[in-house]
Amino acid sequence: MPTADEGGGQLLPGGLTNAGLVRRVGDTVRRPQRPTSPATRALLEHLERVGFDGAPRFLGVDDHGREILSFIAGEAAIAPAPAWALTEEALISVAELLHRYHEAVASFDARGHDWSSSVPAAFCEGLVSHNDPNLDNVVFSHGRAVALIDFDLASPGSAIWDVACAVRLWAPLREPRDTPPALRGLGLSRLRTFADAYGLSEAERERVADAVVHAHDWGYDVIHEAVANGHPTFGRHWQEGGRSRAERTRRWIASHDEAIRGALR
Ligand SMILES: Nc1ncnc2c1ncn2[C@@H]1O[C@H](COP(=O)(O)OP(=O)(O)OP(=O)(O)O)[C@@H](O)[C@H]1O
Ligand SMILES: [Mg+2]
Repeated sequence: MPTADEGGGQLLPGGLTNAGLVRRVGDTVRRPQRPTSPATRALLEHLERVGFDGAPRFLGVDDHGREILSFIAGEAAIAPAPAWALTEEALISVAELLHRYHEAVASFDARGHDWSSSVPAAFCEGLVSHNDPNLDNVVFSHGRAVALIDFDLASPGSAIWDVACAVRLWAPLREPRDTPPALRGLGLSRLRTFADAYGLSEAERERVADAVVHAHDWGYDVIHEAVANGHPTFGRHWQEGGRSRAERTRRWIASHDEAIRGALR
């Protein structure tokens, strides 16, 4: 539950990048701006224009220089993941939401904007991918994903890159000891479920399999850079097991390459 905060509004838990800085004020959310905020704003305005309801609306900038977004009713899947976020229905709904986002963003022209960290060239086809479909960046209502939030890492990439980013987190693709007990041993079958629900073609399945390990590295490069720049929350996360978990997960993904491909075929 959000906690009351004397700075106005309520502190929203969930994120690490802006930990302690994201607040709910009425039906809006206030977040710090970044150098890439104009790009994200153009993206959110495009999503609004094409009628995509699975993202916050950009509503302006407040007197403190924070971006104002619409608050999405529901709950993000904040760690430790609640049972409703681990069901097959939840997984399928994330895949369907991601697909709808890709359909909506396909007509967006990303040129002329400064974007965040770039997606590896091999997986960059121009479509602006979310790139951070982490559990706490998806809002659920009644057990189904209704919106993607936190487009800070969005940049020209591809749909298959986003799927690779999503499945490593949502299946998830990692060692059993780093997996919620309810999902242990289910990673590969949930990967398949996600791919089917998204509607990946045969060729796209191969590309997703190619991308998974790179998506892992890319995600951790972002965290590592933040740690190197002295980000306190990421620094703590890295020290308190984040680093060894990342290394274990990389080994798991690399050693399960054939199994991942097999699950997707
Ligand atoms: N528009 C929104 N509607 C509803 N809830 C939101 C919205 N924006 C943020 N939240 C809530 O606030 C939390 C933190 O927000 P946000 O993801 O923007 O923070 P962050 O620190 O930038 O995250 P990250 O560490 O993923 O970069 C989310 O997990 C969610 O619970
Ligand atoms: Mg977030």
